[in-house]
Formats: sequence, structure tokens, C-alpha cells
Amino acid sequence: MVNNIGIVENCVGIIGTGSYLPERVLTNFDLEKMVDTSDSWIKERTGISERRIASEAQTSSDLAAKAAELALMDAGLKPEEIDLIIVATVTPDYYFPSTACLVQNRLQASNAAAFDISAACSGFIYALTIAWQHIKTGYYKNALVIGADALSKIADWEDRSTCVLFGDGAGAFVLGRVEEGGIMSTKMGSDGTGARHLTCPATYFGAEELEKRNGVKKATIWMNGQEVFKFAVNIMPHAFEKALEEAGIAAEQVDWFIPHQANLRIIEASAKKFKLPMDKFIVTLQKFGNTSASSIPIAVDECIRSGKVKRGDILAMAAFGAGLTWGSAVVRL
Ligand code: UT7
Repeated sequence: MVNNIGIVENCVGIIGTGSYLPERVLTNFDLEKMVDTSDSWIKERTGISERRIASEAQTSSDLAAKAAELALMDAGLKPEEIDLIIVATVTPDYYFPSTACLVQNRLQASNAAAFDISAACSGFIYALTIAWQHIKTGYYKNALVIGADALSKIADWEDRSTCVLFGDGAGAFVLGRVEEGGIMSTKMGSDGTGARHLTCPATYFGAEELEKRNGVKKATIWMNGQEVFKFAVNIMPHAFEKALEEAGIAAEQVDWFIPHQANLRIIEASAKKFKLPMDKFIVTLQKFGNTSASSIPIAVDECIRSGKVKRGDILAMAAFGAGLTWGSAVVRL
């Protein structure tokens, strides 16, 4: 296909998926022993029952590399055939080098350019968009897009309003050229006026500055849950709508909606907005909690492996997160 500025555009599809969840399960009942909370409160307000937590030695790059290996295997590609690795994460192992470079080294994907992007829970859609554009224009052939986060490392385990929400994990897509279908649209947006509602300050601040910025003397997650909730219930349907509009697809034509897995009530609000039954919406948060940038690729991979989602299905994905950011995509598998 030739676009309006004369560039031959390729169809770009998901040619492999993989995901990895750490072994350790932290249940709501475990959390009852750690903070003043209850299984019933967490389930009622969020839908979450349990989440996975990385071991002390496991970092985002470990989770990412495991998901990436599985995605490569699924795609039937050798690591050296990958031209680009993007890791979406807000819990990098280091300020630098990037988590993507650590993954590149682990995989021995020696021909790839590798970098991280930071857009919190929307990060995977941002990374998908960047990789899509590089392959679509012919600049690269194959890309590895990974969402990997270990929010347990930066959670405030004394703050019941946040620590019950998050889990750790990684999900990966291999993108490559396909004959038809593939990524039909993506959309991204940001609203920096809401930056203060969901934060984790850098670790180099002293205790006084941390307290000024975060309310506590720790470089941990802080969130105004109600403000983020308000943003989320408005932006999630908007994000789905924008990507569907761009793809020229009606909501009724979508086989599966894959929303960011933050809160069941937010997902239900989207289903209500589209007047669609909840069984069109993939929900994994009951077992994994909110795994940030990895929640969408984990959900997609799980559904492909279980046979629920099949080749040819149309998927609509939408995420929101700190920034505040949002992103969405429509893909024919
Ligand atoms: O990826 C993006 C990340 N963030 C989100 O998506 C978060 C969006 N926000 C939310 O999902 C919801 O706002 C929360 C789940 C965080 C909170 O639910 P809520 O219905 O908005 O609760 P709330 O903050 O209004 O708090 C209600 C009550 C408060 O007590 P009082 O003031 O009514 O006595 C809280 O102190 O619930 C209390 N509370 C808890 N109680 C038991 C807050 N957290 C807990 C807890 N266990 N874990």
C-alpha cells in the first residue's frame, strides 16, 4: 500500500506473543495480615483476589526477558532477526542502561536497537505504536515490544489504598510484516495537568524533598485514587472509540475488548457505555491485579494460549495510567 506521501506501507501484525508472571502469589488474605484491609473490600472495590510478586532477586528485565523468549519462540524467529526492542516500564532495573538493553543482552539479539519508554500503564500501547510505525514504513522488519513492571518494588507496603492494587509481570509481542490484517489503528493521548494524581518520585531526593513531593519520606507510589478513577471511566471508552473510529470498525464488530486491568468497576463502566455484555471484555485482574504496562499483553497472550482468542479475531485494546496518559489500538490477529 502506498500512502499519501509516497511511502510504501507494510501490513504489520502480531506474529508471536509471550508472558511471564512470577511464581509467588500474594492473596487478599495475605494482605489482611499486612495492612488494615479485607478480602471483601478489595474484591468489592476492585475485583482483585490475588496478584503475583517478583522475588527479591527478580527485576523487570528478568520478567521481560522471560516473556520475550516465549514470544520469539511463538513467532519462530531467532533473536538476531529482531531489529528493535522496546520495553515499556516504570520500574527499570537501572536509571541507565535501559531495561531493553539488558533484555537485548540476555536474548543475544545483537542486531537490535533497544530502548525503554515511560508512559506507565499506557506504556505498552505507546511502545506498540512506535514499533508499528518503524515496520510500517519499512525502516525495520521485526520488533519486540515488551511491557514489564514490578510495581511491588516501589509500592508503599504501609499504604492500604495503593499496595493492594498492584502485581508484577511481563508480556511481549513480536511484530512483523503480514499479508493482511494486523494493526489497524492506534491512538495515544496525555494530560499532564493530572500528573500530580499518580506519582513515584526519583530516589535521589532527600527525605524532606520526598515528603514535600509525595507526602511520605519514601520514593514509593502515591495516588489520588478517586481522581484517577474519574479520569479512567471517561478516558477508557473515549480511547476505545478513537481507535475504532480510526480503524473504521464499529464496537459491535470487535470480537474482544482488552482493557487495562486496573479495576473491574472501570471495565464495567466501558461495557455499559458501549451497551455490550461484560463477556466481550477480557478480565485477568482477579488473578494478577494491576500489572501496569504488562497488563494488556499478558491478557492477550493468556487468551491466545487458552484458545479463547483466535487468529482472525478483531481485538480492541485500551489503557490509561500515570501522566496522565492513555492509549488504544485495534488489531486483527
Ligand atoms: O493503572 C492506573 C492505576 N490506578 C487506578 O486505576 C486506580 C483508580 N482508582 C480506583 O481504582 C479506586 O479509586 C480505588 C480502588 C483506589 C479506591 O476505591 P474507592 O471506591 O475510590 O475508595 P475510596 O478511595 O473512596 O475510599 C473509600 C474508603 C475510605 O475510607 P473512609 O474515608 O470512607 O472511611 C478509605 O480509607 O475505603 C478506605 N480504603 C480501604 N479500606 C480497606 C481505602 N483503601 C482500602 C483498603 N482496604 N485497601
